[in-house]
Amino acid sequence: MHFTGKTESEARAEILELTKEYCDRYHEKKPWREGERIPYAGRVYDATDMVNLVDSALDFWLTSGRYTAEFERRFAEYLGVPYCTLVNSGSSANLLAFMTLTSPLLGERAVARGDEVITVAAAFPTTVAPIVQYGAIPVFVDITLPQYNIDVSALEAALSPRTKAVMVAHTLGNPFNLRTVRNFCNKYDLWLIEDNCDALGAEYDFDGTVYKTGTVGDIGTSSFYPPHHMTMGEGGAVYTRDTYLHKIMRSMRDWGRDCICPPGVDNACHHRFDRQYGTLPAGYDHKYVYSHFGYNLKATDMQAAVGLS
Ligand SMILES: Cc1ncc(COP(=O)(O)O)c(C=O)c1O
Repeated sequence: MHFTGKTESEARAEILELTKEYCDRYHEKKPWREGERIPYAGRVYDATDMVNLVDSALDFWLTSGRYTAEFERRFAEYLGVPYCTLVNSGSSANLLAFMTLTSPLLGERAVARGDEVITVAAAFPTTVAPIVQYGAIPVFVDITLPQYNIDVSALEAALSPRTKAVMVAHTLGNPFNLRTVRNFCNKYDLWLIEDNCDALGAEYDFDGTVYKTGTVGDIGTSSFYPPHHMTMGEGGAVYTRDTYLHKIMRSMRDWGRDCICPPGVDNACHHRFDRQYGTLPAGYDHKYVYSHFGYNLKATDMQAAVGLS
């Protein structure tokens, strides 16, 4: 047997060394020659990526694990925000970003069914789909040509007493007028979701401070589907500066649960059995409280449950 007499880590090191050699030899990139087609996007990878992929496969930890945690930390660092949450696609990222704004924990500012959300008429389908899917009303603003981005001169006309949020994408990587949209949202107390799936890495000078797009709004989203800047095959991320939104987001992503223990960990909060959840029996297991979807707790009970009261 090939691995006889070897420890697991020695065997793994050998496989990874072979993987590197395999990638360098069989996935060698040929230099581009004049006249050849230039793909607008694609998988950009090298042996480091393939080694990490195989390393992860050898763990056979199929749910989010050490690579997810590292990615979330480093991606947030790159964007200059404290919080990032990995999901399975850019469309899921948009859904999660939007659903976060519907949490009862947001009180008066929560988006309710029938509330209005300003978006654009020429958009990616899943920038708009979460609004419709939830039962809120998309209010379409036109775009300008040739930028294909939101016409900010039409924002005021789109506003109504039921407007709660603005959710728009930076089209084809070109940032929309973030200054005007952000100021509009501040003026009327509206949430701003930036669909940043096409614009990862773009920067925006906001009155002298340069921000990465996706980090000026309350929530930003990314897609890691291959035509985007960076790929994991499928994949997406949601990010924010706001601790409160982040907690809601994590709960919404993870089945509506209140517990924040990562997979395989229990009782990280040290309060697993000593809280009161509405009218549930005393000592009810915190790990099985799903106040965003499972149980009809009042907002104040939910705040206690997720440690925000
Ligand atoms: C602007 C925009 N939003 C959302 C998405 C959805 O991302 P995904 O394909 O990962 O679901 C895309 C995908 O191309 C996109 O371009």
